[in-house]
Amino acid sequence: MTQAEVRARTVTTIAGLRELLAERRRAGASVALVPTMGALHDGHLALVRRARELADVVVVSIFVNPLQFGPGEDLDRYPRTLDADVASLSGLGVEVVFAPTVAEMYPDGETGTRVTAGHVGSLYEGASRPGHFDGMLTVVSKLLNIATPDVALFGQKDAQQVFLVRRMVRELDVPAAIEVVPTVREADGLALSSRNRYLHDAERAAALTLSESLRAADAAASDGLAEVLAEGAAAFGDHDDVTLDYLVVVDPRTFLPVNDDARGDAVVLVAARVGATRLIDNATITLGPTGPTGRRGQPK
Ligand code: PAF
Repeated sequence: MTQAEVRARTVTTIAGLRELLAERRRAGASVALVPTMGALHDGHLALVRRARELADVVVVSIFVNPLQFGPGEDLDRYPRTLDADVASLSGLGVEVVFAPTVAEMYPDGETGTRVTAGHVGSLYEGASRPGHFDGMLTVVSKLLNIATPDVALFGQKDAQQVFLVRRMVRELDVPAAIEVVPTVREADGLALSSRNRYLHDAERAAALTLSESLRAADAAASDGLAEVLAEGAAAFGDHDDVTLDYLVVVDPRTFLPVNDDARGDAVVLVAARVGATRLIDNATITLGPTGPTGRRGQPK
């Protein structure tokens, strides 16, 4: 049986994971960590495949982190599908699934030390979901301390998360490389998300508004910021069952909104509520006379 055919071993304790990885490191293996909350889809599997290219041992963590859910959010109904998740990883060369309980991760309860995401963490997703990014950074820093990977992988779909994780790793001198993998989309452009499984048929169709909005924003990029925002928002005009939360264009270096006369690379972030489900998406555009861009990972 080759390494790729081995079914991933599930480890539920921090001590167990550390012991297993220490043994593999003594044999000279490098380690990649793919942090997830489970409900795995092809976007996660793309992270895993890239991880396998980058390291000898791939660890996938599956942990629905209560710290990053606010009151009234979907913590209780968030899909927990551990058996199916482990099965979906077979054949991909994942050696370990780390699936701790809440008590294992937070033995003293959830009110202790937090990593704070600062001002950028209070914008966009952070404005709609107060405390979300502090909770996310706290669990990511715990996972990085537990697994001490050579590389950790994140999906570009969560662009603000990626910015904040990269900044945390740089500013706190965490000795792990961060690898970002392009958003995986359905053939019609819908970005894959664990929350897509909440959508019924009509909502699934309405959810396409997010990627349509990004496509419209990209098409207007050569005309500047005002046009990008107008065209991006106009895509939401026809859909009663989709409510735009925010559409903003940010500088990828600071993640702050760009100025009216900005030129060059920028990231369009969009979030909307489709029925009871909140979805996000993003695309990189080039503002000014050189757009539209049509890059990899962009909505079709
Ligand atoms: O992107 C996610 O699934 C989560 O925010 C993460 C990074 C696994 C932390 O809980």
